[in-house]
Amino acid sequence: MEHKTTSIPEVPPLGRLKGRRIVVTGAGSGIGAAIAQLFIAEGAQVAAIDRNEDGIKAWLKPGSAGNSIALKADIADESSVNDAVKRAAEALGGIDGLVNAAGVSNTDLLRDVSLADWKRTIDINLTGSFLVSRACLPWLETVQNSTIVNFSSGQGLQPFVRRGAYAASKAGVISLSKTLAMEWAPIRVNTICPGAVDTPMVRAGYTAEALQTQVGARYALGRVAEPIEIARAALYLTGSESSFVTGIALAVDGGRSYH
Ligand SMILES: NC(=O)c1ccc[n+]([C@@H]2O[C@H](COP(=O)([O-])OP(=O)(O)OC[C@H]3O[C@@H](n4cnc5c(N)ncnc54)[C@H](O)[C@@H]3O)[C@@H](O)[C@H]2O)c1
Repeated sequence: MEHKTTSIPEVPPLGRLKGRRIVVTGAGSGIGAAIAQLFIAEGAQVAAIDRNEDGIKAWLKPGSAGNSIALKADIADESSVNDAVKRAAEALGGIDGLVNAAGVSNTDLLRDVSLADWKRTIDINLTGSFLVSRACLPWLETVQNSTIVNFSSGQGLQPFVRRGAYAASKAGVISLSKTLAMEWAPIRVNTICPGAVDTPMVRAGYTAEALQTQVGARYALGRVAEPIEIARAALYLTGSESSFVTGIALAVDGGRSYH
């Protein structure tokens, strides 16, 4: 499959999240930042959480989006999470939804990965998603139509070599979401499994050209995704259009996982 260039279609905001109060983790970079910005454009107020608070402050200016707020937290640390979520609920006056987009990559072979790196990958990607979800539960369960969107990966569906710790953490996220969807219904809990997206996480391993020619060429659509294309999937799963959708693992991957 050849690398293809394409322009991403415009989708005008329609106030799809008007009045919703949403916590977004990983909002200091890449996909999480695109989600937080799209949700604000769609009328939400957002508590943007990241351990890199400067990454949020680069795009979220105080007072620019209602009560939207930047909060620093380490999602792998329970007390840090509980404190940030409490401050989020105070700032927004409650919580209607959560998107767990914070995550880290690991590309070691399993024979080489250190126990510290294995644990860090699981602690952030899997345990972090669980901790933030549980911290938000007291608010999510008191409102109608509340939602959680978790982030797995194409690697959580079909792992490559050199992604052992990452793929295990991301497969765990799919299972976590399915259990939460049952235990916490009617809160809807869904998972997004992106293919390669042009963000700092992926750019750490590839030049811009290699990303498109080597990685993009593996996809049926012949390219990698832009963060906004993944953010639109999170918008669908957070908004009313998906009111009968829960427990799914949605591949948003340009056709990578089926062929
Ligand atoms: N980019 C891709 O190709 C791709 C593909 C599949 C899945 N994903 C997943 O999408 C999500 C977003 O990835 P991205 O590409 O935007 O990555 P990114 O590195 O650009 O952004 C991740 C953000 O998470 C934050 N973060 C990491 N650990 C944290 C912690 N312990 N506490 C708080 N914040 C923390 C980082 O500071 C960063 O701002 C991740 O879960 C990633 O695994 C990405």
